Amino acid sequence: SKLVGLVGWRGMVGSVLMDRMAQEKDFDLIEPLFFSTSNAGGKAPAMAKNETTLQDAFDIEQLKRCEIIITAQGGDYTTEVFPKLRAAGWNGHWIDAASTLRMKDDAVIILDPVNMPVIKNALAKGGNNWIGGNCTVSCMLMGVGALYKAGLVEWMSTQTYQAASGGGAQHMRELLTQYGTLNAEVRSLLDDPKSAILEIDRKVIAKQRTLTSDETANFGVPLGGSLIPWIDKDLGNGMSKEEWKGMAETNKIMGQGEGFGSPAVPVDGFCVRVGAMRCHSQALTFKLRKDVPVADIEAMIAADNEWVKVVPNTREATLKDLTPVAVTGTMTIPVGRIRKLAMGPEYVGAFTIGDQLLWGAAEPLRRMLRILLD
Ligand code: HSE
Repeated sequence: SKLVGLVGWRGMVGSVLMDRMAQEKDFDLIEPLFFSTSNAGGKAPAMAKNETTLQDAFDIEQLKRCEIIITAQGGDYTTEVFPKLRAAGWNGHWIDAASTLRMKDDAVIILDPVNMPVIKNALAKGGNNWIGGNCTVSCMLMGVGALYKAGLVEWMSTQTYQAASGGGAQHMRELLTQYGTLNAEVRSLLDDPKSAILEIDRKVIAKQRTLTSDETANFGVPLGGSLIPWIDKDLGNGMSKEEWKGMAETNKIMGQGEGFGSPAVPVDGFCVRVGAMRCHSQALTFKLRKDVPVADIEAMIAADNEWVKVVPNTREATLKDLTPVAVTGTMTIPVGRIRKLAMGPEYVGAFTIGDQLLWGAAEPLRRMLRILLD
């Protein structure tokens, strides 16, 4: 079986990836070679077969042995190692969760339930750089990709509600620590049902405004009991990098726009960090190219792939199935709140949620591995 190098398997995305690969018995089909940036020579995890020693993740000769490399080690690692590996003549398949190579012409953003034709086309042409998409974009397209495939979208606006996990493991810890700090600040008042809510509120805001720099080291400002309408770098043109990715990656995944000889579909909106743990949610506004009945839109979305689930647009169904708490840890991508908007018959709203670590990060990588093994 093929020698498959695994880098960054111990981090948060990497651990989710290892779990999914174990669940789906991917390890039965490969000879894994585990790499480490810090513990070369140590013992590989239990999934190892013949290669039981951890290899140095910067050792180009060891990396070159692999037919396929999957990395969730992060962008700095990719920036350092990938060019050296290719320069050393390695022609294997590079599957990467980091954004470093995503927009390169010779890289495909992988999301096979949505863009298998783009992947197959690149494979036929000898493509070997396979990059996971931005989590928000991947989860969105798993939900409403059907409308893009049908060419129905004239433009889309998305307002996101992104979880702490998108920042990383430390961000999740920081959020929970902040919640705990705030709760502790007012616990005795909460225990007393007759205490004044405005006094509780005053104490909470005072605490939030005086959190130490240690307590906000990752997000920069409090997130618990607040929100942050800026994610990733400031591009200097009024956009955050996360907002820029929405249009750039959606079009690249669909194989349209710049470089594909067809017009790009405008995608724009605001990306907001909220106090959820690991599910990214988004409110979508579509301008469709024509008036399509809601029932038809629902049917198209529901039929698109085996993970998307249309949630009836009722209060009861929404509360039950359309929250980060309902979706976390599952492969399901619910799409709900589907309705025509007041602006006109071509304007459609929807709300969708995805586990940022599953479809947003790990799952497209292991599925690409399966495509290469087929
Ligand atoms: N950039 C995303 C976020 C995570 O911060 O939520 C990875 O795509």
